Amino acid sequence: MKGGRRSVAPVPPTQKQVNMPGIDRPDFKDRRDFMKSAGLAATGFAALPLVGCDTQSRVSLDQRGASNPLAIPRLQAGTIERGERVFRLSLTPGEKEFVPGTPSPTIGIDASYLGPTLEMRRGEQVRFHIDNKLAEDATVHWHGFELPATADGGPHQLVRPGERWSPSFEIRQRASLYWYHSHTHRRAGPQVYAGLAAPIYVRDEEEDRLDLPSRYGVDDIPLVVQDRVIDSSGRLVYPLNMHSRMMGVIGERIYVNGTANAVFDATAGPLRLRLLNGSNARFYTFSLEGDRPMQLIASDGGLLAAPREIRSLTLAPGERAQVIVDLSEGRPLRLIASSPANAMGMMGGRGRGMMGGGMTGRGDSGDASADVFQILDIRPASSAQRIRVPTQLASLAPPDLSSAVRTRRFVLDMGMMGGGMSINGAAMDMDVINERVPVGQWEIWEIANASMMAHPFHIHNVQFRVIDRDGRAPPPLETSLKDTVIVNPREQVRLLLRFEEHTDPDLPYMYHCHILEHEDAGMMGQFVVVKS
Ligand code: C2O
Ligand code: CU
Ligand code: CU
Repeated sequence: MKGGRRSVAPVPPTQKQVNMPGIDRPDFKDRRDFMKSAGLAATGFAALPLVGCDTQSRVSLDQRGASNPLAIPRLQAGTIERGERVFRLSLTPGEKEFVPGTPSPTIGIDASYLGPTLEMRRGEQVRFHIDNKLAEDATVHWHGFELPATADGGPHQLVRPGERWSPSFEIRQRASLYWYHSHTHRRAGPQVYAGLAAPIYVRDEEEDRLDLPSRYGVDDIPLVVQDRVIDSSGRLVYPLNMHSRMMGVIGERIYVNGTANAVFDATAGPLRLRLLNGSNARFYTFSLEGDRPMQLIASDGGLLAAPREIRSLTLAPGERAQVIVDLSEGRPLRLIASSPANAMGMMGGRGRGMMGGGMTGRGDSGDASADVFQILDIRPASSAQRIRVPTQLASLAPPDLSSAVRTRRFVLDMGMMGGGMSINGAAMDMDVINERVPVGQWEIWEIANASMMAHPFHIHNVQFRVIDRDGRAPPPLETSLKDTVIVNPREQVRLLLRFEEHTDPDLPYMYHCHILEHEDAGMMGQFVVVKS
């Protein structure tokens, strides 16, 4: 699978495939194509452990192709209509050349793949008109937001082909990087993979007052990091087989905002990078080549209390982080990521090592069981200013445990060979409300991982605080607001949270593993927020 680019055969236009197996259709009409992609993937996975176990980490071969200017998603601020900020968006079928010359069918939001960065401000009422122009059911979930259950965009807010969905809510979240993506029941994996995902920037006054880089696309750029499986003909495939159902779909090619081998020519500095792990299943430990420092300034739901100098940073699917990078030396910088190359890397003590190493600043990139990917080459302008990060960022009190009135426990498990994805022993059932949570009360949620693989646990409609991991203090990224948190094998993570408003006794929100194949296979539960 490595160096697949070299074996790519050009596909004559007449043979251009219109449907990608497993993406447009829940059933594979063309069995041969499906078997082919599944078989290829199986070969790839079988080969990976060998590569991972007996070589030193290195930049993957398939990242050696020609470099490309980083695509920056169009910034869309909507229009103000009768006091609301209104966004009109269409989910559309598209086509993208993951390998030059070979188009693959994709899904985009007003784009052929991915969508615009939506920009909004805290305190605003926003409204979206989402037109589903796809040939399949879809949903659009607002990841990280507190909102009415009717507006959540989870599996209960299905938008049928040809229909329009118009949710509205007030932005209560702090300034940060959020995102929107498909949450279709049992189809989130293939739909996000095909492109149904994009960033959201929330701005607010607290952040405006700070002198942080904030010129979109200039010194403040979103990086949606995704891995993809490309077959030998150069087409995107979504390989669902026994292995990928268990481990999640892991690709060998990295795309940032859809760009392979991305290069960013900075015209100003310092540079603020907003990282979103938009992959289905892959974890990344990001660092600058040469172990250079970065200033970590924000987590999922907002700024940290103060910047933290870090040398590496681990993000699981769904997680975000913001760092500021100094370009004043004028030398090119390379953002790289080490990432477990295989199942073994995501299992056992390895997951824990990744957290410990990645988050505390000990570089993880020398580990023999990880691939190292080039994420972004940054070419600085000579005019880059020296880095100046404010010493104080957000006002953020430490989590106050004494306010918690109850503890709920959630045990994540996978069953034998991943055949029993569950939370508290049950797989997701659209007709079952698993938890009834009173509004306005502080609770401790204890997330325990009974499986051999790390899971990013995500809760809708809330930004929580991480109390501890097996009793140990959380790493820098987890000292601010979070909505997705890694739970390592055999580990227990405690969260402090409160649902502030928006009650509905019948319509649930979700909590789930953000490895999308795990979510689709049932590692998800439902809760309602009720009047207390
Ligand atoms: Cu980002 Cu329930 O999802
Ligand atoms: Cu969410
Ligand atoms: Cu999982």
